[in-house]
Amino acid sequence: MKKITIAIDGFSSTGKSTLAKQLAQKLQYVYVDSGAMYRAVALYTLQHKLIQDKSLNTAALINELSSIKVTFQYSESLKASEIYLNGVNVNTEIRSMEVSNTVSRVATVPEVRQQLVNLQQQMGADKGIVMDGRDIGTVVFPDAELKLFMTASANTRAQRRYDELIGSGTDVTFEAVLENITSRDHLDSTREDSPLFKATDAIEIDNSNLSLEQQFEKVLALVESKL
Ligand code: DC
Repeated sequence: MKKITIAIDGFSSTGKSTLAKQLAQKLQYVYVDSGAMYRAVALYTLQHKLIQDKSLNTAALINELSSIKVTFQYSESLKASEIYLNGVNVNTEIRSMEVSNTVSRVATVPEVRQQLVNLQQQMGADKGIVMDGRDIGTVVFPDAELKLFMTASANTRAQRRYDELIGSGTDVTFEAVLENITSRDHLDSTREDSPLFKATDAIEIDNSNLSLEQQFEKVLALVESKL
């Protein structure tokens, strides 16, 4: 059967990765979480003290970029890919609040973006891929057959993220999560290089009032219309 490229963009915590995983499983496509790649680089900057008091040592980061290797490896037990930073599994670590508070800053650096976009384009060279992020339909795969742009209110998104974090045992307040989400929205959509915006040919999905099943059905119908 014909294989296509599916690009899913949108604000933080709009459920992009949940939808992308559902689609990849149903279609037997590769799923790539591009945000995880930016998070892995942000984790590197924290580990190597390249960011302190919110101030990023951009020159040092650019200098060290060639020694930052981000890869994915499929885990049989999880039935999902996990992300590795220089050979170390960092799948859990990249979800910390510390990384969440750093990543949007790191993602403003054009050299970081170039390196990760190159990798993403290599991963999608044979199509049959679902990738989610902020610039997938605009920069990474401008020719993707299906582009989705996900939105939901900031409160809805913060509540979902808060429930997830509390569920995984993280000690955090709702206000801190909301603040992180709104400040990332701002940074992601106002940065100079590849800001988050809806591609003209993307289909917007506001899922504030959609169940996961309703959303999946709606999107599957869109996919089928492209196959
Ligand atoms: O999808 P996420 O929330 O895990 O992404 C983390 C950050 O990475 C997000 O705040 C912006 C950045 N990002 C990006 O700039 N471009 C992408 N394609 C994906 C993520």
